[in-house]
Amino acid sequence: MAIVETKDIKKTYLQGKMKIEALRGVDLKVDKAEFVALAGPSGSGKTTLLNIIGGLDLPDSGIVIVDNNEFAKMNQTDLASLRLHKIGFVFQAFNLIPVLSAIENVEYVMLLQGVPKMERHDRARAILDDVGLEGKYDSRPAELSGGQQQRVAVARAIVSNPAIVLADEPTANLDSKTGQGLLLMMEKMNKEKKVTFIFSTHDSMVMDYARRLVTIKDGLIVNDETK
Ligand SMILES: Nc1ncnc2c1ncn2[C@@H]1O[C@H](COP(=O)(O)OP(=O)(O)O)[C@@H](O)[C@H]1O
Ligand SMILES: [Mg+2]
Repeated sequence: MAIVETKDIKKTYLQGKMKIEALRGVDLKVDKAEFVALAGPSGSGKTTLLNIIGGLDLPDSGIVIVDNNEFAKMNQTDLASLRLHKIGFVFQAFNLIPVLSAIENVEYVMLLQGVPKMERHDRARAILDDVGLEGKYDSRPAELSGGQQQRVAVARAIVSNPAIVLADEPTANLDSKTGQGLLLMMEKMNKEKKVTFIFSTHDSMVMDYARRLVTIKDGLIVNDETK
């Protein structure tokens, strides 16, 4: 059954007086526990689509359904709650909170979710260990390498067992070895915890890891293949 479904999503941005058609009618269905790469050149609409699937941005028209919830029929509170409990985000620029330590960054989502303090701490520790950051709990983002920061970002995205993780070019700022390590980790989470992953990339190494490769070009899906 589809956990994510978009129907005829269109999105236009204004750049000065120019209209940019970022998405021109995107239909996408992703089933639970899929591991999907969204490929395509820069400017093709990958980030826009991920932001719309994650409820961070609104389409001009079309339908978005996540875990049986149609976004347009939800109020702000329910949408925020769906985002908080069902969706994990990994942003290209990590977006960690600079004044918080690694473990505090990971705990923060659970704080918003109302998870009790001891449990927050235990779960954050366990997930940081899982991503190979034991011993780095108290480091601030600036004290960590790019790869380590991205691991914190992934740990933060998956710590509360979301149904879906959306990752926007998660390896773009990493060297290929670190990027590969991150992908293996995501793959493991996908297999063991049945977390659905949708991640964008324009890196061929990353595409090779995906079991399904959806190619987007000029705001349209031009190819969709399952290996
Ligand atoms: N906030 C925005 N304002 C104006 N134009 C935007 C905005 N976000 C994206 N765009 C434009 O929409 C198109 C698709 O962008 P994007 O989704 O970021 O593509 P990708 O992630 O594949 O590089 C590009 O032409 C980009 O310049
Ligand atoms: Mg992008």
